[in-house]
Amino acid sequence: MATTTDTAFTDAAAEGGVRRRDFIEIAAVATAGVGGLIAVLPLVSQMAPSKDVLAESTTELDITSLEAGQSIKAVFRKQPVFVRHLTPAEMQAADAVPVDDLRDPQTLAERTIVGHENILVVMGVCTHLGCVPLGAAEGENKGEFGGYFCPCHGSHYDTAARIRKGPAPKNLEVPAYEFTSDTTLVIG
Ligand code: FES
Repeated sequence: MATTTDTAFTDAAAEGGVRRRDFIEIAAVATAGVGGLIAVLPLVSQMAPSKDVLAESTTELDITSLEAGQSIKAVFRKQPVFVRHLTPAEMQAADAVPVDDLRDPQTLAERTIVGHENILVVMGVCTHLGCVPLGAAEGENKGEFGGYFCPCHGSHYDTAARIRKGPAPKNLEVPAYEFTSDTTLVIG
């Protein structure tokens, strides 16, 4: 099974000194518009966007390079968001779980967009007390169910980012998003 580790990243690092994942993260923030403004002018508070503007901001991501088994971290309204290209095995693992057994019953299909069920978009915010779970970056602990793991108090999420073990009460939140092309998604 492919992992978030990808030799292409290593090649990119060798060629350009910047890992490909880093590039994706940077590109994602830059296209967020409002997020870019904050990054460029962190100390000019009077120029910061109003809460209304921030609440309406969107994050556009080009996932052309996101291969099965890889994840990227981006930023949406100043919070982490994880985008994962699920492998067939990860999708099968999610679909094999009896939904009624889940603490927060949801199918993978209910957490993704028709025609793009292999792309899982969730907020990187644990539903227990708000820590950022591990599992989206290269080499991170994905927990006992192969999804995400929050080490703060030991919450384990599965490959559909549904809570399976630990104190978190809910699945990782799926934000509003849409595909504007086969390889472009807009969150918000
Ligand atoms: S904040 Fe994630 S387990 Fe407590």
